[in-house]
Amino acid sequence: MSKLTIADEIKQEVERRRTFAIISHPDAGKTTLTEKLLLFGGAIREAGSVKARKASRHATSDWMEIEKQRGISVTSSVMQFDYSGHRVNILDTPGHQDFSEDTYRTLTAADSAVMLIDVAKGVEAQTIKLFQVCSKRGIPIFTFVNKLDREGKSPFELMEELERVLGIRAVPMNWPIGMGRELCGVYDRMKNQVELFQGNDHSTIEVQKVADYNDPHIREMAGDYLTDQLIQDLELLDVAGDQFDYDKVRAGELTPLFFGSAVNNFGVQTFLENFLQLAPSPTPRQSTSGEVDPMSEKFSGYVFKIQANMNPAHRDRIAFLRICSGRFERGMSVRHVRNGKDIKLSQPQQFLAQDRDIVENAYPGDIIGLFDPGIFRIGDSLSQGSEIVFDELPTFSPEIFAKVTVKNALKHKQYQKGIDQLTEEGTIQVFHSTGGFEETILGVVGQLQFEVFEHRMRAEYGVEIQLHRMTFQFARWIVDDKIDPSKYRINSTLVKDKKDNYVALFENEYAMRTAMDKNPTSKFLEMAP
Ligand code: G4P
Repeated sequence: MSKLTIADEIKQEVERRRTFAIISHPDAGKTTLTEKLLLFGGAIREAGSVKARKASRHATSDWMEIEKQRGISVTSSVMQFDYSGHRVNILDTPGHQDFSEDTYRTLTAADSAVMLIDVAKGVEAQTIKLFQVCSKRGIPIFTFVNKLDREGKSPFELMEELERVLGIRAVPMNWPIGMGRELCGVYDRMKNQVELFQGNDHSTIEVQKVADYNDPHIREMAGDYLTDQLIQDLELLDVAGDQFDYDKVRAGELTPLFFGSAVNNFGVQTFLENFLQLAPSPTPRQSTSGEVDPMSEKFSGYVFKIQANMNPAHRDRIAFLRICSGRFERGMSVRHVRNGKDIKLSQPQQFLAQDRDIVENAYPGDIIGLFDPGIFRIGDSLSQGSEIVFDELPTFSPEIFAKVTVKNALKHKQYQKGIDQLTEEGTIQVFHSTGGFEETILGVVGQLQFEVFEHRMRAEYGVEIQLHRMTFQFARWIVDDKIDPSKYRINSTLVKDKKDNYVALFENEYAMRTAMDKNPTSKFLEMAP
């Protein structure tokens, strides 16, 4: 057999990769679904391992005590497994709303998203926020309605909700036969088969091929009542529902909809197989010099996340790099474009379900972790050969603000270092007052980020700080040739971000709208310009 050229090898590896994030509201079943997917891929052997990890993650890392105590996952990592020829990368996004800014950024590294919805609760607050970030990027979104073994909203009600709340139409790929205690199975509309949920404990699953949904076999299996309901629903869908449209799915305008029960492993395999077939392989990324083709032989990637102290024995941070083109080889030299230096990538790690392994080769769509002695910032580009600068990652508008003061003025230098490093990690945003009195204001997306900040300033920089909560709730970057600070005094204030952009903070929507009316020539942006 002839040897593959590098170009062939990259093409082959790119085509088999699927990199996605699961977006959901806490408790919808993300951990459970992730675990089932990993089990299919053989990445873990026992059910319960991801769950255990969720509970004990970083138990050894001191400042992560906060996480442990609250039993929520603050950090996000990457899990990789192989399934029927595909290499799958799941980007684990922090589930608690306190950490949504990190979650948001992680979504920029995904090529598609799986939106997980609790059948009883429907579209919830955090799902909406995460959906909007995906939707802005125009990535395909696949929806899995979970907990079908419980009573919930009707499938039509859920479809209507997706459209009303998120503005996306759904095309059901399968359809439930019964629900809750009556759950009998699902009908696969693409393959014309019934997946039966059997046994009192719903422990076995049987797949039966049928001619179509009118096949008398279904009646024998599901009984008259559920079969009549199924036929009625599917006839309605055939007439009034959307047709499956690959281009619309790819453009993020139509979401393939699946029903199942993650904890019972029901509908998960069908979902996985369909998803792998329909989801895109790593897509091109935008850079200042145009689109970067993943098939290009020159290696490139960007840092989308920086995480401190994953290994408590080291003070290093880990920079998460999304590979965008070429082939990564351990020990290779690449250009750190921002600081213009070449660096050697000698100890990269890949994040598997449980352990971190040293990675030898990696390809577009893969995420690798680089030891960071403080040289990386979020959004940094690394490239081989040519200097590629990927488009800046968006910063997300903070919603909670506090004035920060240092208890011991002599510690000012460490304090500044801490502020600088933690802003680079993207956990907080820093603003400065514009009035005569110099004040530092921090903005975050969730309250827990303040607690982590306070804790880390003490533990890592030896600085005691005090945070004074402010009443502002919205931040808008103001773009105008002439900005008049006197117009931002009522229930608002004008500050500057690190790059000296003007930002107005508002206590409520009314104050924001008033400011917009008073300053018709100004643009009010949700993200830094
Ligand atoms: P999350 O990561 O999205 O926060 O959710 P997680 O998987 O931890 O699931 C939240 C709860 O929902 C768990 O129950 C889990 O067992 C349950 N769950 C997940 N999928 C299904 C499903 O298909 N059907 C039903 N009925 N429940 C499901 P818990 O009581 O919080 O935890 P545990 O006692 O099961 O460990």
